[in-house]
Amino acid sequence: MAAGWDADRYQRQFGFVSAMASDLVELLDPRAGETILDLGCGTGELAAGIAASGARVWALDADPAMVAAARERLGPERVLLADGHNFTLPEPVDAVFSNAALHWMPRPGAVVARVRAALAPGGRFVAELGGAGNIDAILAALGAAMAESGLPAPATPWYFPTPGQYTTLLEAGGFRVARMEHFARPTPLQGGDRALADWLAMFGRSLTAEIPADLRALVVARTAELAAPRLRRDGRWVADYWRLRFVALAGPGPGTASPAGAPKAAKLQRQMSGQREP
Ligand code: BEZ
Repeated sequence: MAAGWDADRYQRQFGFVSAMASDLVELLDPRAGETILDLGCGTGELAAGIAASGARVWALDADPAMVAAARERLGPERVLLADGHNFTLPEPVDAVFSNAALHWMPRPGAVVARVRAALAPGGRFVAELGGAGNIDAILAALGAAMAESGLPAPATPWYFPTPGQYTTLLEAGGFRVARMEHFARPTPLQGGDRALADWLAMFGRSLTAEIPADLRALVVARTAELAAPRLRRDGRWVADYWRLRFVALAGPGPGTASPAGAPKAAKLQRQMSGQREP
């Protein structure tokens, strides 16, 4: 995650980010005895769920407040303060898991390379991030509200790839893609009438940073007005999230090829694609 978070508020008002990922943990299928990294662990809620399976968990985040919160849950020695573009682990892991974090990392090729290097041969990379089209309605409303105030459209800090783009990246990074899904996930926001403004305050600070302070409340209110026809449903704000979810298996790459890992990767590939065991 990016630096500068209010971890307490994130947990209280945006806990849905982890709550909606329980089936991603099921897809990961963590096992006792495995070693698993949660990349971009936030407050460590999902990493704690993975640890409950008996797996040994490493968790990593770039934000000091998130790392402090995750250390409360997981213990100080299991949580690393590090950048997803540039990290190394004390030991190879069997799986890398990531939820709602990869879109905050603007150089995905570097991230995929670090994940590949972290995995033991045959290891799996199971993740979900914002996909193409994610929060289009929010961004369009904000851009229009800013234009009305004579402000240029903000540059977005996120990376929301298409399935094809991310598949290409994974394959180039030495993975075989066992599963790739792109789907809409309309996401109800907490906070009543102020929920969209709260979402912008928590996640969109870099978008609103260029708005002069005396105009900010006006622009945010106008954003809500413009977004309402697409995002207000039955009196609630519902964010137009799109997810990209995938399972990728570390193939034999330079310096990582292992005869022991290959059968495991092949077995996983069959399981993930629903094929029977021979
Ligand atoms: C997301 O999870 O899709 C997301 C969250 C905050 C900002 C941008 C995207």
